[in-house]
Amino acid sequence: MPSLKLALLAAAGAAFGATLHARASPQAYASSGDGTYKLSPVAAPVRGAGSPGSNSTWKLSINDQSSGYKQTVNGFGAAVTDATVAVFNALPADKLTTLLQELMTDAGANFKLMRHTIASSDLSADPAYTYDDNGGNVDTSFSSFNLGDRGTAMAELLAKMKSLQPDLTILGSPWSPPGWMKLNGVIDGTTVNNNLNHAYASQFAQYFVKYLQAYQSHGVTIDAITIQNEPLNSQAGMPTMYVYADESGNLIQQNVGPALRAAGFNTAIWAYDHNTDVPSYPQTVLNEASEYVNTVAWHCYAPNNNWGALTTFHNSNPNVDQYMTECWTSTTTAWNQAADFTMGPLQNWAKGALAWTLGTDKSEGPHLSGSGPCTTCRGLVTIDTSAGTYNLEVDYYMMAQFSKFIPKGAIVLDGSGSYTYSGGGGIQSVATLNPDGSRTVVIENTFGNAVYVTLTTAGGETWSGLVYANSVVTWVLPAAS
Ligand SMILES: *[C@@H]1O[C@H](CO)[C@@H](O)[C@H](O)[C@H]1NC(C)=O
Repeated sequence: MPSLKLALLAAAGAAFGATLHARASPQAYASSGDGTYKLSPVAAPVRGAGSPGSNSTWKLSINDQSSGYKQTVNGFGAAVTDATVAVFNALPADKLTTLLQELMTDAGANFKLMRHTIASSDLSADPAYTYDDNGGNVDTSFSSFNLGDRGTAMAELLAKMKSLQPDLTILGSPWSPPGWMKLNGVIDGTTVNNNLNHAYASQFAQYFVKYLQAYQSHGVTIDAITIQNEPLNSQAGMPTMYVYADESGNLIQQNVGPALRAAGFNTAIWAYDHNTDVPSYPQTVLNEASEYVNTVAWHCYAPNNNWGALTTFHNSNPNVDQYMTECWTSTTTAWNQAADFTMGPLQNWAKGALAWTLGTDKSEGPHLSGSGPCTTCRGLVTIDTSAGTYNLEVDYYMMAQFSKFIPKGAIVLDGSGSYTYSGGGGIQSVATLNPDGSRTVVIENTFGNAVYVTLTTAGGETWSGLVYANSVVTWVLPAAS
């Protein structure tokens, strides 16, 4: 029976929300597909085999010894698009403050990684734009370079996020450079000659310098860029640009890398930013631009996407960092979409995962009106812009089951026992050793029944507890003693 003092401490812990503060005793938090649990404190796992009763049982194991140490976690979050900025700014000031605290601090998801769109993406209201359109005319001196209203609002929102979360890592990705830098002369509208005009390769590089300087002037340090979102995706109905793998490597090695360094920026350049089915692309970029690139960014949209591709890539590039930088959430995706696209990459050497997108309105927008844009992408948060209210969607809770309990610097541990049947039901798990010695174990149950899970550690401990039907349960275990 717990002492009165322990009970009071536990009550105090609950009153401050689900934080990592109470290290002395194990804790568990759950979010379920049906919304019954939303980061809710639930029965903590017990030492030993416990009492499954007539529940189904499942065995997991983790290697918490140094031989089981894998990658170090940097963070989790989502894409801050123009849509996100517009709908967040439609909230009353006090509501926006509450929302940002929920997203960026341990009052909520504690996101520490954000990707933002450098000018238009498909999730921008009309018209599409870049930071130097100049009426389509060549502007080699960047006399028309300007963040504009939307770029300025983007920088200001990122600055607010950074002030709430000093550990925030920010990645920037463009959907297209200014039209005048391209062979077809336009941001969107045609897939013909939808390529960089290499006569402007040095301006292409300088555009990133101007962008980094402009955001810096708003107090925002950009930690990393990719030079092109989805370089193998050329579409007419939204801003895109096709970039070949060797072209990308050359541009980084010859132009973008040197331009950034010459301007005093040590901003990282991440390769690729596209699907797992063409690993030869980032390999080529790494081979050609190893002086500047040590990180690969992956998206989730390959047919039969398999995150095992990241482990394969790791095995031939053991010192290269990897991130899952884009996967969508929608009214049409399953309750466990965000849990899957965070769990899978973490199990396969990714240092973080990013949802597409952070916020939209109730009509999954605003977005460009052309034929290419995502019209069913729903943010982790939806904003009712007329009522001035927001709703945290199931995808927010599923990401928070990881981000809230896996701190920056946590080491992912090798583990076994995760399995999903071809019909879809299964248990998937990932565990970390945290900087303070505590361990986090995230367990996703896609069975329609509760499962009693028993976890053994290489250090000789056994922990057991119930994982509810169609839910993610996160255990926080005290440091091994
Ligand atoms: C399932 O396990 C939980 C936790 O031990 C227990 O409370 C519950 O009674 C069990 N259910 C059944 C049907 O045995």
